[in-house]
Amino acid sequence: MPDTLGGSVFNLEMKDTLTQFFPTGDATKTYGYNGNILGPTLYFRKGEFVTLNVTNNLLDSTTTHWHGMHIPAEDDGGPHSVIPQGTTWSPDFTVLNEATTFWYHPHLHHKTQEHVYLGLAGLIIVEDENSDTLRLPKTYGVDDFPIILQDKRFDDNNQLANETIGDSIAVNATLNAYLDVPAQMVRFRLLNGSNMRAYQVGMEDSSSFNLIGSDGGFLNNPVDLARFIITPGERFEIVIDFSNYAVGDSISLMAFNESLPTGIQGGSAGPFSDPPNKLDMQDFEMLQFRIVEATAGAVTEISPVLNDIEYLVEGTETRTRELIISKGFNQIFKFNGNLFNPSVVHDTVYAGQTEIWAIGNSSLDAHPFHIHDVQFQILDMGGDPPPAYLAGWNDVVIIVPFSEVRFITKFDTIFDESEIPYMYHCHVLSHEDKGMMGQFIILDPLNISINETENDVVDISIYPNPSQDYITIDLGTDGDEVTTISMVSLLGKTVISVQNDNSNSVNMNVSSVAAGEYLIVLQYANRPSYATKFIKE
Ligand code: C2O
Ligand code: CU
Ligand code: CU
Repeated sequence: MPDTLGGSVFNLEMKDTLTQFFPTGDATKTYGYNGNILGPTLYFRKGEFVTLNVTNNLLDSTTTHWHGMHIPAEDDGGPHSVIPQGTTWSPDFTVLNEATTFWYHPHLHHKTQEHVYLGLAGLIIVEDENSDTLRLPKTYGVDDFPIILQDKRFDDNNQLANETIGDSIAVNATLNAYLDVPAQMVRFRLLNGSNMRAYQVGMEDSSSFNLIGSDGGFLNNPVDLARFIITPGERFEIVIDFSNYAVGDSISLMAFNESLPTGIQGGSAGPFSDPPNKLDMQDFEMLQFRIVEATAGAVTEISPVLNDIEYLVEGTETRTRELIISKGFNQIFKFNGNLFNPSVVHDTVYAGQTEIWAIGNSSLDAHPFHIHDVQFQILDMGGDPPPAYLAGWNDVVIIVPFSEVRFITKFDTIFDESEIPYMYHCHVLSHEDKGMMGQFIILDPLNISINETENDVVDISIYPNPSQDYITIDLGTDGDEVTTISMVSLLGKTVISVQNDNSNSVNMNVSSVAAGEYLIVLQYANRPSYATKFIKE
């Protein structure tokens, strides 16, 4: 059981640790936060201001990302917020999310898999006024337990090889894990912290339980089910009633992975490991529950209404953004044909706007898509509405081969003017590390007026657009009013600026500018500036 930390200032230190995974033989070299593999569970309260001092005492640079949280980009801990070894990074922010379970983990580009796999991962529990009043098990370590699912592979010296997929299951960094549970209702907060493997979770006797929450909060009502799939990055909260079992009995939590749908990593198809290892395409035991006496004051019934989710309605979106996943050479997956480039932002979002994202998968593998900063609501998966347990707030969604997922979300706040973008990516960490990641920024729509569709305000045109080298900006009758023409990155950096001397047509050499989306901003002598989009190829 990870320890807990509370309050408003949290000190986390990343360093090398040793973990005894096996009863005999060498301990395993691992990483961890605060002295042990994994990290303490952080308790946050909605509305409170928190400061996190994250010290990197590893022999490597890294970052720490607060997965799922609605926070300024500069506090988000993505690949731009590198913590060099021997230094401390101190983000601070107000907790705006509702009660749920988040997690934190490194996010250094090319190194996320290695750093998470070696042990850097911890949970964040947010509580709020709603969760205070709900009838639910909520005593950590008594009737409320974290379950961090990860697969590992050890060499003959008990050391972890950096593998995309492991052959032994670790629960809270423990092999052959068991847990004493009281004969009553017990809540579990499950996190899939694996590199790529998904788990179809269920009880050994196929009995049902209540699923009460997903990534971003409680469902409106508990969903009674016997199985659900948890893919990398996802969290689900469940409540299992052990009062039906006799003290002294044991029952296991299983991964029913033989029947995982096609393409989902760990299931029946796909080049996950060759030859298939001992967890592939199998049902296996993950955690054994050993039933002990109920506690005094046990929760015997859970609230039938848990949340009042405000659903975003299709039709209120300002745009639909399409991303297509395709596969290139050597298991390198891309969004819209692009690999991650830290200096290119492909998606600009305007604060306050609701958008639909439609993500199509044209590859043979499933991909758990994750977006930073926001929680979303799934509209459909392969054309069908989501199952009840995915009808709440999520920040990860699995997209199976040759299907499309559409979600709706609202980018509702501007937090900072930092030049740091947010990420979206596949949460299969090897895919992410190889470049299956993109960036978006949230701009204040009031800062600049954009007229992308027609030139009814000003009489200008840019051609060719997109272009690789030269563009012509035809100013029409505005030529004598435009004083300066600038090309501005979506992060607000001016990359080219030319003065205009009453001419009606200006050429710009854009060949040295990085590929991506830009704004061409015209400054007028006597009226507000005008901006239009330009794509550098
Ligand atoms: Cu779990 Cu970009 O993160
Ligand atoms: Cu994240
Ligand atoms: Cu992927």
